[in-house]
Amino acid sequence: MSDSSPRTVLVTGAAGVLGWPLSLALARRGDAVLMMVRRNRRRNVRERVDAFAALEPDVAGRLRILVGELAEEGILEARARKRVLEQADTIIHCAALSDPAADRALAYRTHVDGTVALLALARELVGLRRFVHVSCTSVAGQHRGLWTEDMLLEGQAFASPAAESRLVAERRVRTSGLPFTIARPSQLVAPDLASPNGLTHLLRLLLRVAGLPAPLRRVPLAPLGRCARVDAVPVAWVVDSLLALMDSPQAEGGTFHLNDPHAPTVDEFLQRVCPALGIAPPRADLPRRAASALWSGPWASPLRALADQALNLPPETIAQLATCARVDPTRAERILRPMGLRAPRFDTWIDDAVEYARVHLV
Ligand SMILES: NC(=O)c1ccc[n+]([C@@H]2O[C@H](COP(=O)([O-])OP(=O)(O)OC[C@H]3O[C@@H](n4cnc5c(N)ncnc54)[C@H](OP(=O)(O)O)[C@@H]3O)[C@@H](O)[C@H]2O)c1
Repeated sequence: MSDSSPRTVLVTGAAGVLGWPLSLALARRGDAVLMMVRRNRRRNVRERVDAFAALEPDVAGRLRILVGELAEEGILEARARKRVLEQADTIIHCAALSDPAADRALAYRTHVDGTVALLALARELVGLRRFVHVSCTSVAGQHRGLWTEDMLLEGQAFASPAAESRLVAERRVRTSGLPFTIARPSQLVAPDLASPNGLTHLLRLLLRVAGLPAPLRRVPLAPLGRCARVDAVPVAWVVDSLLALMDSPQAEGGTFHLNDPHAPTVDEFLQRVCPALGIAPPRADLPRRAASALWSGPWASPLRALADQALNLPPETIAQLATCARVDPTRAERILRPMGLRAPRFDTWIDDAVEYARVHLV
């Protein structure tokens, strides 16, 4: 039986690509939402809530903004903390760094210490119903082959401390003794492509190629073309899935992949997107061995510098794009499919995303 009676939910990262539509969806279904945002975002979120109130006043009335900072002692200001302790029965932890190149100290302070502090707050709530921790499929790091929802520490290497710290944070949640659910979405596709993830970097890069003179308007090789996948899912589907998992008793104590099991390979992605942008698609694959020899051999430094400076692609972002793990969402599907929630396939959203990119990202 699903537990869908109204809740009072603390949403961290409520100003973000995921946190904002999630907060609206919670309020629309009748939950009260305590939206935690950082001080510098308060005014912006206030304006968004006010604009939204003109359209759906009853729903907006269920949104309350609280100022908080994960890296600070106590996380929330005193009054906000009191409100949370008195009212909240659920926490959805969406806040995270968006920069994959963040340094180790900042990554651990935000992701690990921040999550530990939030778990401590959750422990103080009377009648906590669920602690939903939003992580990401990139905890698979450089793992190759099948990556299941149970897998966590498998000796995988990480391209950045940010990705590694997400894994450590998950571990803290798993061992917290609280009623938790961990969700690992793949890359989020927002209608305005607001998320600075591997997918949007790739689209921006292709747009730059599309702007070159005709003979150069081509992608000669598909890096890791048949091994790596461009795994991305619309943010609206992730929101619906999070709500379903939060209400599902079967989801308590589990980890769930919210990704596209039919995600295209890099080559399939390029074969579809390049022609739509007037670019000649790759005729050959740059296999993993050759790519990693290039990426770590004598050419590595100039190549990395070229990617970073000329193409605005830091190595951590390339690693985000180039994961060869096969992410398996079996357990999530077992809960979500009976509710009619299937990951939208790539070909249902990619044309809109490319069109949006063509008009707005150039
Ligand atoms: N975007 C993706 O493609 C993707 C893919 C897989 C998983 N996820 C996960 O989904 C969750 C939400 O991601 P998103 O795309 O919504 O990211 P986002 O748009 O960058 O939002 C994250 C929010 O977290 C806030 N935040 C960062 N550091 C904080 C701190 N120290 N204290 C308090 N708040 C802090 C940010 O505040 P400011 O606005 O003030 O910076 C931002 O509003 C994250 O856990 C992310 O890892 C995202």
